[in-house]
Amino acid sequence: KGDTRVAPSLVRYELLHEDASGTRARRGRLHTPHGPVETPIFMPVGTVGSVKGVGPDDLLTLDAQIILGNTYHLMLRPGDDLVGHMGGLHRFISWDRPMLTDSGGFQVFSLSEKRKITEEGAAFQSHLDGRHLMLSPERSIEIQETLGADIIMAFDECPPSTESRAYLEKSLARTTRWLHRCVKAWSRERSSLFGIVQGGLDQELRKRHTEEVCAVDLPGYALGGYAVGETPEAMYEGVAWSAPLLPRDKPRYLMGVGTPVDLVTCVEHGVDMFDCVLPTRCARNGLLFTSEGKLVIRNATWARDERPADPACSCYTCRNFSRAYLRHLFVAGEILAMRLNSLHNLHYFLTLMKQVREAIAEDRYAQFARDFRERARAQET
Ligand code: GUN
Ligand code: ZN
Repeated sequence: KGDTRVAPSLVRYELLHEDASGTRARRGRLHTPHGPVETPIFMPVGTVGSVKGVGPDDLLTLDAQIILGNTYHLMLRPGDDLVGHMGGLHRFISWDRPMLTDSGGFQVFSLSEKRKITEEGAAFQSHLDGRHLMLSPERSIEIQETLGADIIMAFDECPPSTESRAYLEKSLARTTRWLHRCVKAWSRERSSLFGIVQGGLDQELRKRHTEEVCAVDLPGYALGGYAVGETPEAMYEGVAWSAPLLPRDKPRYLMGVGTPVDLVTCVEHGVDMFDCVLPTRCARNGLLFTSEGKLVIRNATWARDERPADPACSCYTCRNFSRAYLRHLFVAGEILAMRLNSLHNLHYFLTLMKQVREAIAEDRYAQFARDFRERARAQET
């Protein structure tokens, strides 16, 4: 509040418009030190400092507004000290638009085989070379500030829903204490800290943790602990219930989500930001998202097909190449297949979000979401 010295450079959310067609969808703008981000937004994932398969020039052509990096991977390789020495992550990867880094907590629990969580933090062994390492709230913030992302995330634990209620309660209370330690360690010089709400699908735990996290005045808040194995319907119900508990005047980020239908549905519940490896990972596996449904590019059906992957798409791949050529590249294991498929899938996700923003601005989001889901369902059968 009172600190005018640092406030202007930190992330600020501008709520532009709330959908008037009966949904909770919001149109907003996130002001960051590296420029604005129009919300709702999908953030391509650049785990190790590269959005797999595409370069920063491609990302500009796609008009990606913000990308994500991972503390866990970058601290292991090439190391945060090295990235700091090279002038920070933006300069290192030659990306001068906004960037967000995840705190590493989630990745320690999902990628490192041997790990031990204590009040201090998470002790773990690198999945690359077995080195013994430690991540704590203080260390995570230190690494993220060295990397220099515009938005940094609190260090949290995302416990499996299979844990006992006693463990979940203990974990949530600890994640809250970790948040207070993150806030204390945060310099506020360049990066803006977002808090993360956990609590799985338990409404009482979710509500309690939301109150604890939102009691800390932060530039934004995230919903963690979703898309970790529950059904899409269970996630939608959880998000529909918990997103409105977050402050209306701050951005809401649903971590690790999701499919096109997930994005459209969770925007309806008031979510502003998403990230997921789905478009790039599927692209590398030859699965293309199109206006006609999912396309498995290796299928022999396309061997002599002159049509683009998606006739309704205006991406570089669809403007220039046939399904027959994309299939050939994929079957031949050519690295160009990865790039062309990734360009298309990222274009699909980013264009979908552009349509989402337009529909909200024009107060027709309820109809847009209904139509989208209906079309997706028809394509599945
Ligand atoms: N990515 C996907 N889900 C989560 C989560 O719950 N916490 C963090 N830190 N990152 C995530
Ligand atoms: Zn395309």
